[in-house]
Amino acid sequence: MREDLNVPMKNGDVADDSRVRAAAPTLRHLAQRGARVIVMSHLGRPKDREPDLSLKPVAADLGKRLGREVQFVEDCVGEKAISAVDRLQSGQLLLLENVRYHKEDEANDAAFARRLASLGDVFVNDAFAASHRAHASVVGVAAYLPAYAGELMQAELAALHRALDDPKRPLVAVVGGAKVSTKVGVLRNLLTKVDALLIGGAMANTFFRAHGWPTGTGLVEDTALDEARAVEKEAGGKLVLPVDVVTARKMREGEALRVMDADKVEDDWAAYDIGPRSVALFRDRLRGAGTVIWNGPVGVAEIPDFADGTTAVGEAIASSGAYTLVGGGDTVAAIEALGIAARYSHVSTGGGATLEYLEGKELPGIAILKDS
Ligand code: 3PG
Repeated sequence: MREDLNVPMKNGDVADDSRVRAAAPTLRHLAQRGARVIVMSHLGRPKDREPDLSLKPVAADLGKRLGREVQFVEDCVGEKAISAVDRLQSGQLLLLENVRYHKEDEANDAAFARRLASLGDVFVNDAFAASHRAHASVVGVAAYLPAYAGELMQAELAALHRALDDPKRPLVAVVGGAKVSTKVGVLRNLLTKVDALLIGGAMANTFFRAHGWPTGTGLVEDTALDEARAVEKEAGGKLVLPVDVVTARKMREGEALRVMDADKVEDDWAAYDIGPRSVALFRDRLRGAGTVIWNGPVGVAEIPDFADGTTAVGEAIASSGAYTLVGGGDTVAAIEALGIAARYSHVSTGGGATLEYLEGKELPGIAILKDS
């Protein structure tokens, strides 16, 4: 099994176990049906064997979640891994140590992929969130074993397919985040599918500046102004920008706040959230939607003073009655903090993978399953 157990860690413990919970159903089903389940994952981006990036604490967390022991072995290939696999009984689970402790994983080294593959009889990729990586444990192994999609992978793809390819209309997307340049591919692809595209977050500043509006000290990508103009032209009226913004002099809690029109942000002030008129505008576009896709908070949601826009938009999406798909680490963290995640139709485990899918790219970890 390839799972994405790349979870945030704090003081040696799993800080957010969303990905562990999401991985559990496929693992439970396979174990219950008598498989000997060998699980591979990466954690972080280790340069060498960084002890802080060991998957050992994740094995304990996964065991608690599954209500059965998850054994752990300190390497993913070699003698230790082979003998741990040999001892594994039907219905038991074994988590291998971080595959990225070997640089051959990211290099998609064929000999390394073969060593990983030699541990099992069948390869199941359940790691949607890592499937944009053409790494040995995601792609390479499939050259040596019959390869299948796990239940989480299937659920992620079914949700994306439903939202993008076969949506109940109107289809409305909400995209936030800091930079136009990192999301321009997503914006362009979404514009070919959606009925309305609502823009929030710091990237709205770049659109404002492209209109020639003053943006104070707000983050603007001067190198992306032409791209922003091109996107707006392509959008042909589908793009909905904030009409007002919540500004402060510094991006920190407790600063004086002022709501300004989006085209009149004053010197020394910067937009850190969408304003109340924008919230009303976004609510209006979300009401009556058949499908909503959301990626990226519309303000600096981790700072309470700048979280009202994201809270209101999150609530409006949750109560829209539409089929709702939310993705991206910051956005999912925001709705979990609000306690509204369960009211969404699908909460994706993917960060970069979801973005690449929304860009219309083929993910190598999924392409290989189709070939297989
Ligand atoms: C993620 O967290 O988006 C995935 O686990 C991929 O991690 P990576 O960006 O380090 O490859």
